[in-house]
Amino acid sequence: MKKLELLYEGKAKKVYATDDPGYVILEYKDDATAFNGLKRGTIVGKGVVNNKISNHLFQLLERHGIPTHYVQELSDRETLVKRVEIIPVEVIVRNRAAGSLSKRLGLPEGTRLKSVVLEYCYKNDELGDPMVNEHHIYAMELATEEEMSRIADMSFKVNQILLNYLRDLNIELIDFKLEFGRFNGQVILADEISPDTCRFWDTRTGEKLDKDRFRRDLGDVEEAYQEILHRLMDRSAE
Ligand code: TMP
Repeated sequence: MKKLELLYEGKAKKVYATDDPGYVILEYKDDATAFNGLKRGTIVGKGVVNNKISNHLFQLLERHGIPTHYVQELSDRETLVKRVEIIPVEVIVRNRAAGSLSKRLGLPEGTRLKSVVLEYCYKNDELGDPMVNEHHIYAMELATEEEMSRIADMSFKVNQILLNYLRDLNIELIDFKLEFGRFNGQVILADEISPDTCRFWDTRTGEKLDKDRFRRDLGDVEEAYQEILHRLMDRSAE
């Protein structure tokens, strides 16, 4: 498949057209942003690491029956994916309190949640991705009730699959963000799952192995991303 013109450049990835209108190529960048783009930097090698981590996890999810946009890894930074119409709703799944939830509700970071929390944000950079509920989503026609029901079901299922898989690698999945898209009338998982979009804590030491190291200037950012990749790859070599 030929890589054609640049269609879109996001904060962490570029999207290129191909000679087939049903497919696009993602190219992962080393650029890192936080706080809606206020903090900017580079995490050396992040593009390569996130490409591999995300593809690994999308293949795992596919094996467990979750439809995703993943087609084929093309190079260290490039992946062929189905071209979806992105639903402008970010889904946040939380197993323990951290980040913005801790701030908003006064729950210390790490507090176990009695049940899994789903949150929705309207994907809009100018507005800083404000949190919305299902009523806002229907009122603004961001997605239908049928689509949101599929999205919630899939999000809980993705959480269970990832929790179980990562626990064996001594990685605790604290929370993460998902994005979905429409493809041939079906809702499928899109975007990426990586240390940029998840909170991963080492089960034994509690060490943060994700983008919080960049957001909070904790140091050893590259090492943390590499550590996650190594744990996933060691497991797949078994
Ligand atoms: P939060 O605590 O800042 O709301 O983040 C919750 C989770 O969602 C965390 O794993 C990081 C991820 N996330 C993104 O992937 N993109 C974003 O823009 C934000 C705000 C959070």
